[in-house]
Amino acid sequence: MEDVLVRIREYEAEKDCLGVEEVERRCEVGPSGKMSLFTDLLGDPISRVRHSPAFRMLVAEKIGKDQETEIIGLIRGCIKTVTCGKKHSRNIKNTTTITLPIYTKLAYILGLRVSPSHRRMGIGLKLVVQMEEWFRENGVEYSYMATDQDNEASVKLFTDRCGYSKFRTPSILVQPVFAHRVKISPRVHIFKLTPSQAELLYRKKFSTTEFFPRDIDSVLNNKLNLGTFVAVRVDSDFKGIDMLLTDPPKSWAVLSIWNCKDVFSLEVRGASRVRRGLAKTTRIMDRAFPWLGIPSIPEVFKPFGLHFLYGLGGYGTHSVKLMKILCGFAHNLAKDYGCSVVATEVASEEPLKLGIPHWKKLSCAEDLWCIKRFGEDYSDGSVGDWTKSSPGLSIFVDPREF
Ligand SMILES: CC(C)(COP(=O)(O)OP(=O)(O)OC[C@H]1O[C@@H](n2cnc3c(N)ncnc32)[C@H](O)[C@@H]1OP(=O)(O)O)[C@@H](O)C(=O)NCCC(=O)NCCS
Repeated sequence: MEDVLVRIREYEAEKDCLGVEEVERRCEVGPSGKMSLFTDLLGDPISRVRHSPAFRMLVAEKIGKDQETEIIGLIRGCIKTVTCGKKHSRNIKNTTTITLPIYTKLAYILGLRVSPSHRRMGIGLKLVVQMEEWFRENGVEYSYMATDQDNEASVKLFTDRCGYSKFRTPSILVQPVFAHRVKISPRVHIFKLTPSQAELLYRKKFSTTEFFPRDIDSVLNNKLNLGTFVAVRVDSDFKGIDMLLTDPPKSWAVLSIWNCKDVFSLEVRGASRVRRGLAKTTRIMDRAFPWLGIPSIPEVFKPFGLHFLYGLGGYGTHSVKLMKILCGFAHNLAKDYGCSVVATEVASEEPLKLGIPHWKKLSCAEDLWCIKRFGEDYSDGSVGDWTKSSPGLSIFVDPREF
């Protein structure tokens, strides 16, 4: 194998954008004859991390004999504070017990890529090690990454060589956007919350859910956030949005919608002409006869956009049904925005999963999250070692990292 001189350095937008896009393009091509998913970061490769409180992107640059350079690898990372557990505390008068979140400083590694012609030369490992140095300098307590269970290279790199352990296996649920609108039951009211109402609701009800971001307000006020919506039954004892926290109805559901379409587009490549033809036929039928509600396959063989649903929650016996209706509402909004897909990610044991319509073939039942603990001084208190804790029923998946 040729001796390659490789330098790891900070990404510089003007100089590196094209080189990085080229590596992304080469990495996304799947095995010959199979379909693969291509991501277009719309000319801004750092966009996948830029909405986090602290972020960084590194590139691996090959330096040739004549000092000519080529980008052959990249990695993105971000740091934020999230919930890793909960603790119980007595109120001032010592009359009731309250549950409070325990926060930790968490880093996330994503978008690690090494160009196929330079693999197994230690470049992926170098990129991870250098990114972790930045994490340490910034007092990070845990770092995690998500990957496909079947991605042997990535799983082995992180677990065998970098000290990560398998942690959670949430499900990515994907629903196509049909050519027809989903009917919303007239027996249900859907309300849009203001970002500050949503923040109050999320902090009160979800702040002890693991991975809940302490800066939820910046997520909710981000321009990519299309809103937080609450569904209640018309005949319920609902007294208005302002009373949702103090005097909630027996059943309700909530979700927020994030517009990924402005960050990246996806494209399915490598589909046979027969497959593309069949998909097109379903769309033509659905557009011609929308009242039949044919579950048509959207245009995914050209670049398409998606909306991501996050902060899903609900209470009461009707919460699953209400969630289903909210997902229908989100489907219609995605249709108005010209998206082809609505996606979400929830804990594998999430009770509301039953109310989230999705196509199994497009979804991923077990997305593998691996985690590593750094250093010695921890703020996680009674959680002990988070990496050893058992999963809760829910997790909060931050839309900035999808
Ligand atoms: C995953 C990826 C970044 C690895 O990059 P790389 O530069 O080839 O990795 P390294 O050479 O640093 O490998 C370090 C270790 O990882 C493991 N590893 C890497 N590739 C592997 C493979 N194909 N099969 C099994 N183990 C592998 C090995 O333990 C390896 O150590 P070794 O070579 O001494 O046995 C690269 O394969 C890639 O870009 N894949 C496509 C994109 C992707 O899947 N990214 C990960 C998403 S999080």
